[in-house]
Amino acid sequence: MSKSIRYDAKVVIVTGAGGGLGRAHALLFARHGARVVVNDLGGSAHGEGASASAADRVVAEIRAFGGEAVANHDSVTEGGRIVQHALDAFGRVDVVVNNAGILRDKSFAKMEDADWDLVYKVHVEGAYKVTRAAWPYLREQNYGRVVFTSSTSGIYGNFGQSNYGMAKLGLYGLTRTLALEGRKNNILVNAIAPTGGTRMTEGLIPASVFELLKPELVSPLVVYLGSEQCQDTSGLYEVGGGWIGKVRWERSLGAGFDPRAGFSPEDVASQWSKIDDFNDAVHPADNVEALKEMMANLQRFAR
Ligand SMILES: NC(=O)c1ccc[n+]([C@@H]2O[C@H](COP(=O)([O-])OP(=O)(O)OC[C@H]3O[C@@H](n4cnc5c(N)ncnc54)[C@H](O)[C@@H]3O)[C@@H](O)[C@H]2O)c1
Repeated sequence: MSKSIRYDAKVVIVTGAGGGLGRAHALLFARHGARVVVNDLGGSAHGEGASASAADRVVAEIRAFGGEAVANHDSVTEGGRIVQHALDAFGRVDVVVNNAGILRDKSFAKMEDADWDLVYKVHVEGAYKVTRAAWPYLREQNYGRVVFTSSTSGIYGNFGQSNYGMAKLGLYGLTRTLALEGRKNNILVNAIAPTGGTRMTEGLIPASVFELLKPELVSPLVVYLGSEQCQDTSGLYEVGGGWIGKVRWERSLGAGFDPRAGFSPEDVASQWSKIDDFNDAVHPADNVEALKEMMANLQRFAR
């Protein structure tokens, strides 16, 4: 049996926690002793309107079992206010779970600037603003955990979700660099790509499967990634339906050409099967590892 995960005295911000996955995360954090800032703008799944009731309801649920929580109704695009609310209510912030999100699905041919911009604003700019505002406090206390919410639509693509996919994989790019920059201050940064039966996926997933994909099945991973026990950083985890797996980059060994002599498009074509061959593929964990094969090619032809 592993050690129990406790959050006593720790302060956790969960954005978009008025419903769906965020609500389940907030409840589980509180059950593990965290003081939780339940943030939610309370708008529609398409990012229209606002209401205080979503966050307030979740706070009432947490208080009903003796947990500690406060509601915050700001948009994540006002990240500084959310972090200030955590400081005012609890005096610190230890964990940021960037979960708030909306959809503006359209095929790329029909995509309008407003749909593109709003999805970017909520997912990417929102996560940036909240995390940026918390960052100095996490650095100062030499402790922090940040979780970003990516998506398989970003990792693999999904018809009608060019804006959403762009934003979601962007968040993983942010995860990778913040993991590097945060490490020396014990700030660990990971991303999840969840699947859950929420208003966002209602109607998209067959009803029988939807019922089984309970949001609560995503939260144990998030509460683990937010904990002191977790020592991993820069990870990307697919999670849902009671299953969790880790994603990593894979790259073929590739083909090398003489960098001095140069090479033609026809040379590229002739080596295509090698470029595309994933036998003996490598899994670079950082930039230096990623450059290894290119550097080896330069050396091979060095005089
Ligand atoms: N449900 C899935 O299968 C799935 C799959 C991949 C990724 N995700 C991601 O998980 C996260 C949670 O989604 P969900 O399925 O629970 O959907 P949801 O609509 O139930 O929850 C999202 C919450 O974010 C809030 N929100 C939206 N814009 C906000 C803003 N500007 N400021 C503050 N709060 C805001 C909404 O009010 C809502 O309560 C999202 O980032 C979503 O993209 C979900």
